Amino acid sequence: MEPFGSLRTDGAGTLRSADLDRRVVLGGWVASSRDHGGVVFLDLRDRSGVVQVVAEAEGVRDAAGALRGEFVVRVEGTVRARPAGTVNPGLSTGEVEVEATAITVLSPSLTPPFPVADDIETDEALRLRHRYVDLRRPRMASAIILRARAVQVIRRVMEANGFLEIETPILTKSTPEGARDFLVPARLAPGRFYALPQSPQLFKQLLMVAGMERYYQIARSFRDEDQRADRQLEFTQLDLEASFVVEADIHALLEEVFATLWSELLGVEIPLPLPRLSFSEAMRRFGSDKPDTRYGLELVELDKVVADTGFQVFAAALGAGGTVVGLRLPGGGDLSRREFDELVDFARGRGAKGLVWMVAEPGGELRSPVRKFLSDAEVAGLRDALGAEDGDAVFLAADPQVRAAQELLGAVRVELARRRGLVPEPGTRPTRWDFLWVTAPPMFEWDAEGGRWDAAHHPFVQPSPEFRDTFDERPGEATATAFDLVLNGVELGTGSLRIHDPAMQQRVFALLGIAPEEAQERFSFLLRGLSYGAPPHGGMGLGLDRIVMLMAGRSSIRDVIPFPKLQSGGDPLTDAPSTVEPRQLTDLGIAVRPAKR
Ligand code: AMO
Ligand code: AMP
Repeated sequence: MEPFGSLRTDGAGTLRSADLDRRVVLGGWVASSRDHGGVVFLDLRDRSGVVQVVAEAEGVRDAAGALRGEFVVRVEGTVRARPAGTVNPGLSTGEVEVEATAITVLSPSLTPPFPVADDIETDEALRLRHRYVDLRRPRMASAIILRARAVQVIRRVMEANGFLEIETPILTKSTPEGARDFLVPARLAPGRFYALPQSPQLFKQLLMVAGMERYYQIARSFRDEDQRADRQLEFTQLDLEASFVVEADIHALLEEVFATLWSELLGVEIPLPLPRLSFSEAMRRFGSDKPDTRYGLELVELDKVVADTGFQVFAAALGAGGTVVGLRLPGGGDLSRREFDELVDFARGRGAKGLVWMVAEPGGELRSPVRKFLSDAEVAGLRDALGAEDGDAVFLAADPQVRAAQELLGAVRVELARRRGLVPEPGTRPTRWDFLWVTAPPMFEWDAEGGRWDAAHHPFVQPSPEFRDTFDERPGEATATAFDLVLNGVELGTGSLRIHDPAMQQRVFALLGIAPEEAQERFSFLLRGLSYGAPPHGGMGLGLDRIVMLMAGRSSIRDVIPFPKLQSGGDPLTDAPSTVEPRQLTDLGIAVRPAKR
């Protein structure tokens, strides 16, 4: 591609043998320079890549010799073939070089705070402080470029399906997505605050009431929650909503989006339709609502096998209505005692009382610290139920809460896969892409601390058809018309059909303990909207940062966000958050109390 801008004729990384003998003008950064006495070699870098520049002629040699790393230069010259033996097959421009006839410094540079190279070990705060240098590193640049391409593809597929890109407000009212709000004081209404949107949820529903029928947005969202490798305070969603749809319509649309992204940007064909798994099956088989199905290690329920056990840990769990679940690690008998202990600690670290491990041994035995509590028949039954062969390890979890036992073993399963190298290291591009839909999750979750029901997702999700009449009588049983899209064990997005009947919306608010006055105060605009002819509608929100992170084979979304924040919430580049002028606070009617420590 021709470079944009009249100061250059070509991109450095685009030159090939077909360009031999052409006069070119390049502009870019000095990636390196090597002075070989009579001749200076430069690597010139721009967004398109790197090309070698040779400065041999009298005038240019001195100019080239004076250049330092990261100077911005203009190079005029002629493309020529590299001499035999100096071709660099590792470089796309490796067959050619540019013989410089003039070199001009457009901008000098201080010595960069770290080398502009991929394989460096540098403190992340330093990299973020000098992000403009960090993003010159090819690995970082390629992630940002991939992100832009992904958005292009998404927009194209959405537009082809008749979706309109529509903006929604940033200064708005709280949207409950389960996190804390970021608040913005309103100068014109002292004591009042805007909230930044946790998602465009309510506005996109109102756009459906407004008859827009198909909406999407590459939408910035804000959530004041603890940051992790896959969470930032502000992040970007592919957000969408459509009217007159059923769940399958939304699935088919997103399947087209993802198949196109993977095909065009990664050259990988994703077989469609994607597999579907119900939430309860996902929990039963994988102990997770976002299972990584790239490897087996499936969970097995063992309640029947240990129904009459004398082992107190199991008996107590079963007696309290709980469960005992296990999984088999083929060949896991080679784990050392220390490794088993680490896994028990891992389970304890997640709040479990313990974790039973056993090794299948010849003669139908199971070697384990708890062997003495088990009968021979139980040992045989466990081996049989888990399919354990000699040399395998098995892990068992017991808990009075079925979900807790499943989730614990689900976490152990992921940890085992990591330790045994069943999945590529985080930060490398996967070789296998297991997309799947997880459907029909519970509609509500019991909040034991608060003594009340919470929306498992958000309060606008429609119950599954069979629970429309009864969800408020037996909230614990009700499932929702919601679904998650999962890729290799990462939740990419969540969607659902929404409630379009204000009376049903009021019933959900009532169940969640949101009194009618409070519902009115917080959501009157939604309830009012739903009263003026709301079509059946549904949609989805997907984490763009997570999608690009997985596509780029990175282990943190910070690597695919141009200007991310650190775990602490701070931005080393701008030093935000920062104090403000007392004047500004006075204008806002705000007094800051000294921080409590
Ligand atoms: P949800 O809350 O599940 O759904 O968010 C959708 C997706 O956004 C991504 N995500 C995040 N990414 C980075 N940092 C964060 N802090 C963060 N929080 C969420 C995840 C998640 O799956 N309005 C609903 C969607 C809908 O029902 O249409 C919503 O926001 O990938
Ligand atoms: P304890 O009775 O706490 O000494 O535990 C006896 C054994 O059972 C130890 O190996 C524990 O790791 C294990 N254990 C304890 N609680 C559980 C549990 N809920 N699930 C699985 N194993 C457990």
